[in-house]
Amino acid sequence: MSELSNLCDVIIFGGHGDLAFRKLMPALYHLCNDGYLNHSSRILSTTRASITQEEHIALVKVKLQEFLALGQFDETKFETFKERLQVVTLDLGKEESYSELNTLLGEHPDRDRISYLSTSPDFFGAICKALSGWNLITPQSRVVLEKPIGRDLDSSRAINVEVLKYFEESQVYRIDHYLGKDTVQNIMALRFSNRIFMPLWDASNIDHVQITVAEAVGVEGRWGYYDDYGAMRDMIQNHLMQLLCLIAMEPPCSLEADSVRDEKVKVLRSLRPMSAADIQLKTVRAQYTKGSSNGEIVPGYKEGEGVEHSNTETYAAIRVDIDNWRWNGVPFYLRSGKRMRSRNSEIVIHFKSIPYSIFANKGSCISENKLVISLQPKESIELKLMNKIPGLSEQMRLQQVDLELNSPMNEERKPEAYERLMLDVIRSNPTLFMRLDEVEAAWKWADIILQGWHENIIPMKSYQAGTDGPTAAVELIARDSRSWHDE
Ligand code: BG6
Repeated sequence: MSELSNLCDVIIFGGHGDLAFRKLMPALYHLCNDGYLNHSSRILSTTRASITQEEHIALVKVKLQEFLALGQFDETKFETFKERLQVVTLDLGKEESYSELNTLLGEHPDRDRISYLSTSPDFFGAICKALSGWNLITPQSRVVLEKPIGRDLDSSRAINVEVLKYFEESQVYRIDHYLGKDTVQNIMALRFSNRIFMPLWDASNIDHVQITVAEAVGVEGRWGYYDDYGAMRDMIQNHLMQLLCLIAMEPPCSLEADSVRDEKVKVLRSLRPMSAADIQLKTVRAQYTKGSSNGEIVPGYKEGEGVEHSNTETYAAIRVDIDNWRWNGVPFYLRSGKRMRSRNSEIVIHFKSIPYSIFANKGSCISENKLVISLQPKESIELKLMNKIPGLSEQMRLQQVDLELNSPMNEERKPEAYERLMLDVIRSNPTLFMRLDEVEAAWKWADIILQGWHENIIPMKSYQAGTDGPTAAVELIARDSRSWHDE
């Protein structure tokens, strides 16, 4: 059963941008249809363009039809949803242009106000300053910051300092949409509600962990943004780091936001900083070249708009070491890339091999147990165990079987990550959002690698679009006598 949330005005800065149309509007549309959004709550989209209310509604409709999954757009439901939509023309960097927003918000001064900054981080400070200048920040206000927050520790600090001049830390929601994915949240349920994993979850039983986020898509017209960031800043520093934290953290004392975040930040602070020699041995960066994706020839990264001389990585693979009691000697291998063979995101926990095999001399090969948490495209959790092949053969023959731990679907439609997170902001629940110290600890570790790459300590490798990435990534893990899960 859905429960109606508190009355609020959601203001989407960058309201006609790619993220707003692709993710935020569909999330709000579903929340509205599923009865989670209060009937009088409004969605105000800011844009610089002079556009009428009718044009805005027509545009939102077209975009919903484009970005909602097949069959999810419903004319009748849209008629109700559109009543909440409101366009506001303003220039993000010009405080004087916020007067229309001031008038609209002034109509309901007591409502919760959620400012979703779906813009380049360069505007975060200016938007918060303007909101404050117009006295639009109340104790019931919250601000949502989209990642990446900065390009490194210094720029991230500068942005946060600006935002925190106007908002309290408790009002700031730094979003990492991976934390809104259902299977990602399931990691906590799996770890902390099943006793059987408790004694296994450490260096005495786990050999290593692999975290992969592979995308088949390329940069999709986001050259301007992507070329400034690359795989490390766009994916590893945030999404993959958050996944690593959920696997590696100690049990929090409760599900309260700060209990969870306290444990995550301890992991981030335990990441072993890399020396120049480590960067050479434990990191790989690469760019895709022309290849084929889904049966179509696709151009190489450098054939994109204005990036012909780019030195930005579209793929990164890194061996991460965590210096603490639980994980000493257990490497975490992370990799993420665009234009890979297929979309595939997973976390694989590789357990150590059995101490001695009574089967080994009888022709049975025993594979190590693995826990495979698949995030996309399918969402599932499988524990790979050895089992006897039934039959009367003289030698006992074994095979690996999957124990599937999938929850029965109890809802018709699985909510998207942004729905969960948007609703959490509306409900004022910051558990799934990043606290300032988490963001900074992740940058501190990433900065050393980024600096090494900037100094060309290791060369930029290449991989053909539509493949599994550069051979250097295979070599990186092979150096430790291991291989990637899908090889
Ligand atoms: C975003 C990145 O944060 O995550 C994109 O900026 C990336 O480059 C996207 O494509 C991946 O998200 P998902 O949920 O499709 O894996």
